Amino acid sequence: MAQIFLDTASIDEVREAAAWGILDGVTTNPTLMMRAGTADLKENTLAIVSIVQGPVSAEVLSTDAAGMIEEAREILSWSEHVFVKIPVTVEGLKAMKEISAWPNGRVNATLIFSANQAYLAAKAGATYASVFVGRMDDAGLDGMEVVAQAREIFDNYGFDCQVLAASIRHPAHVLDALLVGADIITMPFGVLQKMIRSPFTDAGVEKFLQDWERAQGK
Ligand code: E4P
Repeated sequence: MAQIFLDTASIDEVREAAAWGILDGVTTNPTLMMRAGTADLKENTLAIVSIVQGPVSAEVLSTDAAGMIEEAREILSWSEHVFVKIPVTVEGLKAMKEISAWPNGRVNATLIFSANQAYLAAKAGATYASVFVGRMDDAGLDGMEVVAQAREIFDNYGFDCQVLAASIRHPAHVLDALLVGADIITMPFGVLQKMIRSPFTDAGVEKFLQDWERAQGK
């Protein structure tokens, strides 16, 4: 079954989505932390973990492998649920290779914009390969095609790395990601809300209630 993650650092959004019973995990990044109005990565990440009790990704800020490794050591020590997000750069690959060999080396390879990057991340031992669909679409590329290609490559060569569809902009992205076999889809809270809502469902509920009242002679 594909997993649903929320792409947010907002505690309120995580609490609300978790209450719906369909939330598997959360991804954050520095931009989302800024939007949530917090600069305390550890406190915010652990607050999310306490609600979701599943995978929660927190991103490194260093751009060199040594710095990423040092940050990852700290981030991964916070909880068994925490994943460290590392960008797929040369330095990022070096860091992933080392971190993924640790017993607690849970790596979310981030900022992936090509199937080749996804392949290299898997080869370096990442657990998740986050493909940024919406940002590619914004640039006139076909982001979902990269998700499909990553799926095919991981299946061809038996990689355990999970395909994570990220940078999701609307429910149609979610549907397409499900159809091409993404393992995980991380989405903003607004997209999750839109997946549920239908005016036809609301109208249907309303009509049933009215008819039930009529059936009772009211
Ligand atoms: C993934 O983990 C990222 O947080 C993310 O999906 C970023 O997407 P954006 O393009 O909406 O910033």
